[in-house]
Amino acid sequence: MELFIDTANLDEIREAASWGIIDGCTTNPSLIAREGRDFAETIYEICEIVQGPVSAEVVAQDSEGMLREAHLLRQIHEHVVIKVPLTPEGLKTCKSLSGDGTPVNVTLCFSLNQALLAAKAGATYISPFVGRLDDIGHDGCELIADIVGCYENYFYDTKVLAASIRHPQHVTQVSRIGAHVSTMPFKVLRQLFNHTLTDKGNAAFLKDWETVGEGVEATAKRFLEKRSS
Ligand code: G3P
Repeated sequence: MELFIDTANLDEIREAASWGIIDGCTTNPSLIAREGRDFAETIYEICEIVQGPVSAEVVAQDSEGMLREAHLLRQIHEHVVIKVPLTPEGLKTCKSLSGDGTPVNVTLCFSLNQALLAAKAGATYISPFVGRLDDIGHDGCELIADIVGCYENYFYDTKVLAASIRHPQHVTQVSRIGAHVSTMPFKVLRQLFNHTLTDKGNAAFLKDWETVGEGVEATAKRFLEKRSS
């Protein structure tokens, strides 16, 4: 499963990219507004850091305006993926962009019917919002399963990009279901590392190593010097 980071915060993206485990990034108008920085500059810098697909969302609500915005956004960087809302105008735009090979992420998906429409419009990615469905008592992961099954049934190439991920258990569940991508906030991405047994085991290794009485560098250097003499 590909892991994307869901933020426009450059510090978070730089740290996550340093771990070597992120494949892309998703942004949206709210995440961009939260940073208070120039949109185009931010998208460019994210693309340079991530060196993978970066979703930049249009804000026009008519297809002509979306296409104008998309055409300009695509010139910012080769890694820009155009994000459009799941509306008739958004899918009209998706159909046009996908027809000329532009990658499109169709966002704000909350039903299987919507996901079906996005696949037929040639979406590269569909973004069902797991957390927001859970927030209103629905089962967001059940929707992911429905979409994965539907796309497999009809051999759609659209990738299921699980979004609105609230905690590590969402990542576990969507990976078991077979989502192609999971995008998540920095906090959740960092939480994926955590396990108490890892911490306990590491502490025990270090404590036992104390009885060795010599550091790894020192013993390795001594061995290498001896071998080269
Ligand atoms: O990419 C969509 C994601 O940012 C939405 O997350 O937490 O606002 O539902 P959230």
